[in-house]
Amino acid sequence: MEKAASSSVERDSPSIWPGPFFTMSTTTVSTRLPFCLASSDYLLMIEPSDTRGCWVYFSTQGSGGILRTTARDLIDYPLGVQQVVQGAQYVEVGPGIGGFIPFLSQNAQTGRIPLPIAIDPANYLEMRRLLLDARAEELGDEVCQRLDILVERCNIMLDSRMVRLIPMRLEEAVRRFPDLAFCGDVVVSNNCIDIYGSPQERLLLDRLCKGSVFLR
Ligand SMILES: C[S@@+](CC[C@H](N)C(=O)[O-])C[C@H]1O[C@@H](n2cnc3c(N)ncnc32)[C@H](O)[C@@H]1O
Repeated sequence: MEKAASSSVERDSPSIWPGPFFTMSTTTVSTRLPFCLASSDYLLMIEPSDTRGCWVYFSTQGSGGILRTTARDLIDYPLGVQQVVQGAQYVEVGPGIGGFIPFLSQNAQTGRIPLPIAIDPANYLEMRRLLLDARAEELGDEVCQRLDILVERCNIMLDSRMVRLIPMRLEEAVRRFPDLAFCGDVVVSNNCIDIYGSPQERLLLDRLCKGSVFLR
């Protein structure tokens, strides 16, 4: 059963993201898609998608402009990373809420690989809170199922038994954690450094990688 349109707008409108990329109106923000919800730092967007039911992502203000945190599934990652290499140290720069790190974490639980390393300044606590708030909005079964998956991915990112999360930009991470140098057998940056990284960070990606597998 759908709730009245715009209920979330009225409650949240003072903090709705004022970014120029998005024109806000009460008809756009409704319990039907597209749906959005804002906190002080993030705007959660849920849009309809022909191919996968819905497309969920976050926008926030980065130092260089609007930054998106997306949630691609494992199938959307480069083909080469979908077969885990036994014993390999995996590093993902900018995992967001993608499906790759959770997939690796499961493999780490069985002892096939060491804990994966994730480098991302995203605020997973805040994003999880928004996902849970959206979950309460009765947006339909398909959306709820997707939100449950993404909440679980945030739980994994926040669990130090599942992943070594380094919650900062790559540049700072390499400066503060010298052990990251040449630590990765496989280094992945899916829709991150090429889009959001500084020129310096594009070079730094090489410094993470001791192996020959390097996918971006
Ligand atoms: C577009 S999302 C990609 C998420 C996921 N890999 C995917 O393919 O759906 C980009 C992610 O990179 C992170 N990010 C942006 N700049 C970064 C940087 N300099 N170092 C590390 N992570 C960064 C953002 O916080 C965001 O979570």
